[in-house]
Amino acid sequence: MNQLDIPPTSLPAWTELENLADSSSDCSISRFFNKDPDRASRFSIQHDGLFLDYSKNRVDDLIMHSLLSLAEQSSLQSRIVAMFSGQPINTTENKAVLHTALRGRPEDDFRQSGMAVHGLVAEALAKMAEISEQVREGKWLGSTGKMITDVINIGIGGSDLGPRMVCEALGQYAHPQLVLHFVSDVDATEILGTLKKVDPETTLVIVSSKGFTTQETLLNTRTTLGWFEEKLGLPQAQATSHFIAVTAHRANAEAFGIHPSRILEFQDWVGGRYSLWSSIGLAIAICIGQRNFEAMLDGARKMDQHFQTMPYEKNMPVILGLLGIWYNNFLHAETTAIIPYCERLNLLPAYLQQLDMESNGKSVSISGESLGYPTAPIVWGQTGTNGQHAFFQLLHQGSHLVPTDFIAIVKDPLSPTEHHRFLLGSMLAQGAALMAGQTEENTPPYKIYPGNKPSNTLLIDELTPHNLGSMIALYEHKVFVQGSIWNINSFDQWGVELGKHIASSLISEKPKKGCQLDPSTKQLYDLINQKNGLFE
Ligand code: F6P
Repeated sequence: MNQLDIPPTSLPAWTELENLADSSSDCSISRFFNKDPDRASRFSIQHDGLFLDYSKNRVDDLIMHSLLSLAEQSSLQSRIVAMFSGQPINTTENKAVLHTALRGRPEDDFRQSGMAVHGLVAEALAKMAEISEQVREGKWLGSTGKMITDVINIGIGGSDLGPRMVCEALGQYAHPQLVLHFVSDVDATEILGTLKKVDPETTLVIVSSKGFTTQETLLNTRTTLGWFEEKLGLPQAQATSHFIAVTAHRANAEAFGIHPSRILEFQDWVGGRYSLWSSIGLAIAICIGQRNFEAMLDGARKMDQHFQTMPYEKNMPVILGLLGIWYNNFLHAETTAIIPYCERLNLLPAYLQQLDMESNGKSVSISGESLGYPTAPIVWGQTGTNGQHAFFQLLHQGSHLVPTDFIAIVKDPLSPTEHHRFLLGSMLAQGAALMAGQTEENTPPYKIYPGNKPSNTLLIDELTPHNLGSMIALYEHKVFVQGSIWNINSFDQWGVELGKHIASSLISEKPKKGCQLDPSTKQLYDLINQKNGLFE
């Protein structure tokens, strides 16, 4: 068996945890606190601008000890070394996984197949700096000589969610005159709605696509090209200064007609959902400036160092990953909620959904064996006080166990004290109520709060680029820890291919010619066709 291919169920700690889970039905978080006055501080980790309190979890020292043993006995350490040293740990695609190199410095000496990669990274950053500064300083001109006022990022999945989430989160650092727009969905509402708001003479389009074959992105781009032609009489606008491409496959962008000097590249060893640190972050650099973009990289780099060097018991991503495994595999929780108490982080749950579910939503091991145990949980959530008035009922009194991550910004210059006190007070109250519950005698059953509901609380000092970078890297590594212990390849996404394949034959060929439709799909296809002839 290869050193990176260890089924977790074969490890002694896995059996220990199964036994602990069987005997943990009476394990009460409140009782753990009563027994241990130091629990809050012992079960907390500070790193850089982040503070993680994980004391409100259904774990005691024994369980934590076994979880940490699981990490030790698994291939986690060798996988960390393999990832940071550029080995091809994405085995199904034979690719290295080096998004961490994008935030590295020369002295970190990241290598892929023995070749130093920092030169490529520095070159890409320099190009981003050059373009973003020109746009921000009003020196990047459209075809009629006017300066850019609006930037549209067309991309989907990792070529959209990261930049979109970061630009929203760091809005306070945004250039005051430039407006950033994001278009991802192929539903025309998004692109047409965006084009209505902007002037073609002053619009710059960034076509972001790692492969540059993604049909949604290409269709939205073609619609935008039609709009330039219609409004400005500008055919082939993709060859003008209104269009920049960001891709790992230059030839595809060139074939699409983007001018070679306006193609920014990144390497195939950057996974799509890990790409916001690469040239895919161009929209971010234009929005908040290169200096702030690089501060975000620095925050992530510090988290990388923390992850690589801290002992597991003080290692934030390891602890978060292990707690997730405890709930997922031993207490049978099927979902996990991400609840930021900060409207600017409202896209974080969607971003983490892709990160976690596309990375770890797998059922076979790296050697192709069927796993027989659950992997990625269903990740969901939304911002705090909105959620309280919508789905928190289920968290408090529902029948599902939903481990929850609360995330809050401690100092927020944008939030007046009265609002901020309310916001953070609400978050603290929810964590406390979920844990303590309320089960006094003579209370009618519908008023009983069973409590013992677990949560982590992540406090971020301030929502700066540095701290945001650190938090994103924290979750990246948490997902990596879990994928390593589950013995899966977290860096491919073959599960998305079949749907794309059927869609392309449905859309372009007519199913009669080759694509066999099941009776239900055929019925729906015919009905749509009868009503509006869409597939004629
Ligand atoms: O279909 C899934 C996916 O490949 C994601 O992994 C990726 O982030 C997204 O599509 C977009 O891909 P691209 O950047 O190549 O357009």
